[in-house]
Amino acid sequence: MKIERLPPVVTSLGHTNHPYMTGAWTPQHEEVNAWDLEVLEGAIPTDIDGVYLRNTENPVHAPLGRYHPFDGDGMVHQIEFKDGQATYRNRFIRTRGFEAEQEAGESLWGGLADGPGTSKRPGFGAHGGLKDTASTDIVVHGGEAIATFYQCGEAYRLDPLTLENLGVAAWAPLDGVSAHPKVDEETGELLFFNYSKHAPYMHYGVVDASGKRTTYQAIDLPGPRLPHDMAFTKNYSILNDLPVFWDQTLLERDIHAVRLHKGMPSRFGIVPRHGGPVQWFEAAPTYVLHWLNAYEDGDEIVLDGYFQENPTPRPLEDAPEGHGHLMAYLDEHSFRPKLHRWRFNLKTGETTEGHLDERILEFGMFNQQYAGKPYRYAYSTTAKPGWFLFNGFVKHDLETGESWSIPLPEGRYASEAPFAPRIGAVDEDDGYLVSFIIDENRGTSECVLVDAKRFEVVCRIALPHKLSSGTHSVWAGRAMLRA
Ligand SMILES: [Fe+2]
Repeated sequence: MKIERLPPVVTSLGHTNHPYMTGAWTPQHEEVNAWDLEVLEGAIPTDIDGVYLRNTENPVHAPLGRYHPFDGDGMVHQIEFKDGQATYRNRFIRTRGFEAEQEAGESLWGGLADGPGTSKRPGFGAHGGLKDTASTDIVVHGGEAIATFYQCGEAYRLDPLTLENLGVAAWAPLDGVSAHPKVDEETGELLFFNYSKHAPYMHYGVVDASGKRTTYQAIDLPGPRLPHDMAFTKNYSILNDLPVFWDQTLLERDIHAVRLHKGMPSRFGIVPRHGGPVQWFEAAPTYVLHWLNAYEDGDEIVLDGYFQENPTPRPLEDAPEGHGHLMAYLDEHSFRPKLHRWRFNLKTGETTEGHLDERILEFGMFNQQYAGKPYRYAYSTTAKPGWFLFNGFVKHDLETGESWSIPLPEGRYASEAPFAPRIGAVDEDDGYLVSFIIDENRGTSECVLVDAKRFEVVCRIALPHKLSSGTHSVWAGRAMLRA
């Protein structure tokens, strides 16, 4: 393996015992380019062509208050596959906040778990007191990688091949862009939403393949909400107003405390793709972090996602002292997300819904060529009890109800694993899941390819350093890398 190391960034982070700054969440500060990666098992297939991009949180400065892993500075890790070869590189996302703290040599903003008055500068996005780290999500649109922040922020552009920072997207509105903008690979459009603490509390937008914003519509909500993800079909986008959001009374004192508002239903807003009247549906109360796919079926819209059975969990009892609340809200086994299907009838206004599986699953992926259309295969991750760490993959055949799983050995943790279609694929599941593994037993990281049809690991490739765990990722085939 050949490694080129870039000049180090300025850091003031010292020793810590924080559970989300140690172990598999130890921040990585090194930026590298690496070639001739060592293949540990199998061979790099010649029928995979494109890039896997993964966003992670890596705090470079000592926190001003109580660190939450979603406060960490965004870093994009990339592996590129071409002609049976693989290269790796990683870069921090140079957000305005990151650059200001590099100049200051210290943290200027508090985080999600901090009270009012912690930040030394006005913050960004819906919360208003946080640094926009762009560390939550990443998609590829119009030939550019777009990194976004879960509390809404700028849309930070990077070259998906070189990871060069390209500045912010002009199409992002003043209220910012939430994590989980969606790219329709068929039309080249990017669909997005944002949310805020001022009326109308939400907007929905569309950006065309050339980067021009063509739709921007207010979505009237009864108050500030905390949506995290959206879904789309061929003709509609699906937004949500779920009964888990900031306590209104505390919000007046600038305290951001999330509550389950008992007695309120979940509400789903179905809006025509390019704007128009919103049709609202009610459903069982829950919170949903992530949707899978959605599609139209006659008069109905079908939506799959992960229904949380316990969205506001009690503090985790065996957590390190002082971290019980934070760790419960990061522990899938505390909030219990289940694979779930909602059906919204556009003619009758009725909702029907139910679980598709009783296991605790989240962070789902599917073949993006089927986005917005009827699909058959979904890929979820399992999580280590007590921790925001993925310890296996599950494949579902949604037609037959069959499923297959790949559990990882203790101490090996995966990243979100999108589907990469095989060159010349005919079947929906003809391709690979791509994931970065953190091996805590060896102190190393690697990339694994899972043959999605046979559902087994077929290739393992060594990476030049150990990654920190993080949040979202994306696969972009070669055609997606061109504007
Ligand atoms: Fe997310």
